[in-house]
Amino acid sequence: MMSLICELSDLRRLYHKRVPKMFQGYCESGSWTQQTLSLNTSDFKEILFRQRVARDLEPRSLKTTLVGQDAKMPLALAPVGLLGMQHADGEILAAQAAEEFGVPFTLSTMSICSIEAVAAKTQKPFWFQLYVQKDREFTKKLIDRAKAAGCSALVVTLDLQMIGRRHADHRNGMTAPPRLTLPNIIDIAKRPRWAMGMLNTKNREFGNIQGCATGVDDMNDLMKWTAGSFDTKLGWEDIQYFRDIWQGPLIIKGIMEADDARECVKLGADAIVVSNHGGRQLDGARSSISTLPEIVEAVGDQIEVWLDGGIRSGQDIIRAKALGAKGVMVGRPMVYGLGAMGKPGVSKMLEIFHQEAELTMAFIGHRDIHQVTRDDIVLRTPFP
Ligand code: FNR
Repeated sequence: MMSLICELSDLRRLYHKRVPKMFQGYCESGSWTQQTLSLNTSDFKEILFRQRVARDLEPRSLKTTLVGQDAKMPLALAPVGLLGMQHADGEILAAQAAEEFGVPFTLSTMSICSIEAVAAKTQKPFWFQLYVQKDREFTKKLIDRAKAAGCSALVVTLDLQMIGRRHADHRNGMTAPPRLTLPNIIDIAKRPRWAMGMLNTKNREFGNIQGCATGVDDMNDLMKWTAGSFDTKLGWEDIQYFRDIWQGPLIIKGIMEADDARECVKLGADAIVVSNHGGRQLDGARSSISTLPEIVEAVGDQIEVWLDGGIRSGQDIIRAKALGAKGVMVGRPMVYGLGAMGKPGVSKMLEIFHQEAELTMAFIGHRDIHQVTRDDIVLRTPFP
């Protein structure tokens, strides 16, 4: 089985065979017309490499540091909500694969497995992603739990104070926890064991928001809860509060404009992630890779600038490096690996990306990831 998997698309094909359609839709879809989702990947195709020859290519290394922490390559697993529905214990398995490989894993606020459950089953610290909620006491409690669990970075996501409309979830009747929608023949209140097995998950709880959210027991409630709980009146001074109470590395995710990036520098963040949430929020926004150069130019000498959205191979990691990213995050590639094969699938994705990045780096004449620069690529057409 493993030998048949050569590239990410092989894992994706298997993912589509093994995971219920409702969860596939949740992972794959972008918002509205999905233009931004599509630009996120297609814009990578505009970046071409310069081939170099007659170079000493031994020894080769992709090792780097991400917010001061060692990583085997410049990549972290992105926060993905409801990961535990793509595969039972999904968050735990992905975190274990990441720590064995040597890259960071980020646990979403909206995870199925709780912060404590992931901490109990892993050896090394992971990162925690925060959605800021109106209830600041509860938000602070989440941070305290992340501290107690030894999380080594806080990722504050700013581009989802309201949820983008993703039609696939509505069409597929996406519910969380999953429910079979055969109301005439199945007593859904009893959720028969065979039905849960068919839906490929044994986890049915929201690990982190339990206790705060009363009555969150399906996706519709979850949407309502999110609409009622996430803070839609955020200002930079609110983010400063999190800087003040979190002493470790602070990463701000969802930055697409230079002015916002400068605000992150002002408040003392350690890194920003240039991201449009994988095309799931503002449809019609530019791709994150096309936005990266101007943000690097504005703040790249003051803060680590990372990118996510559309990374589908190790080659894309090198493309992002060449345009100035310190590192990248990957969301869907992790989900494909996890849904296809569980933990070995996530490990496989990481191995493939590492191999592709190393080979590409060598073909453009470098043996160390830090040697990759803007001079290694040309743009087929300038980004808008
Ligand atoms: C996400 N993303 C996300 N981001 C975040 O900060 N918290 C979250 O809970 C989630 N949940 C989530 C679920 C799913 C199914 C996806 C696909 C994405 C966004 C994620 O962290 C990242 O920004 C994108 O996934 C990057 O794009 P790619 O790698 O999927 O193209």
